[in-house]
Amino acid sequence: MAERRLALPELDIAPFGTLLADPPWRFQNRTGKVAPEHARLSRYDTMTTEEIAVLPVAEVMAHQSHCYLWVPNALVADGLAVMVAWGFTYKSMVVWAKRRKDGGPDGRGVGFYFRNVTEPLLFGVRGKLRTLAPGRRQVNMIETRKREHSRKPDEQYKIIESCSPGPYLELFARYPHEGWTGWGNEADGGVIPRGRRYSSYGPVAGLAGQS
Ligand SMILES: C[S@@+](CC[C@H](N)C(=O)[O-])C[C@H]1O[C@@H](n2cnc3c(N)ncnc32)[C@H](O)[C@@H]1O
Repeated sequence: MAERRLALPELDIAPFGTLLADPPWRFQNRTGKVAPEHARLSRYDTMTTEEIAVLPVAEVMAHQSHCYLWVPNALVADGLAVMVAWGFTYKSMVVWAKRRKDGGPDGRGVGFYFRNVTEPLLFGVRGKLRTLAPGRRQVNMIETRKREHSRKPDEQYKIIESCSPGPYLELFARYPHEGWTGWGNEADGGVIPRGRRYSSYGPVAGLAGQS
């Protein structure tokens, strides 16, 4: 059992109806150029899968709730294990297809076996709770351009809010989002996240309404 057990947000509005989490997964190759803690890039500290799994998530979530969990392709098995440890049953996933400005796949991704242009957002349920009505029409794909290293697309919030109940909790948040409780060591408004910053990701050709 990992020793480090972090405190989660105070339960002033909990129990939360939906969790979004983007953990600082630790890769085996910690010195490789894709590792977030790589000395030259020093993007953010990472946690072992066990440290992530022992977070007391179940204590702050409603008995009927949803979980959205980002996980790199290489660590999907770890993501599924964490989901179980947090009290959720895996049901489905939303795939982020990273696009270039002209709409083609953004081949700048890394990967040992394949060059990754996608990233899964695992979806799990605690108790018995279907997605809200718009969820049945929501396709399970987000097609946008990339921004900073590991920064996820803002489209996720709109999708989650229309498909899953509040109150909303984001673990390992880096930028505050209205209507959400954010938690993480860079989540405070006064903290400037490490790493290079990009102002926007701009439109993707052929994808109306995505900026
Ligand atoms: C993958 S990033 C999250 C990126 C974010 N979802 C975004 O779209 O910009 C993981 C975050 O977890 C934070 N983190 C790392 N170790 C942590 C710890 N022990 N406790 C809380 N947050 C931690 C990192 O500093 C980083 O901000």
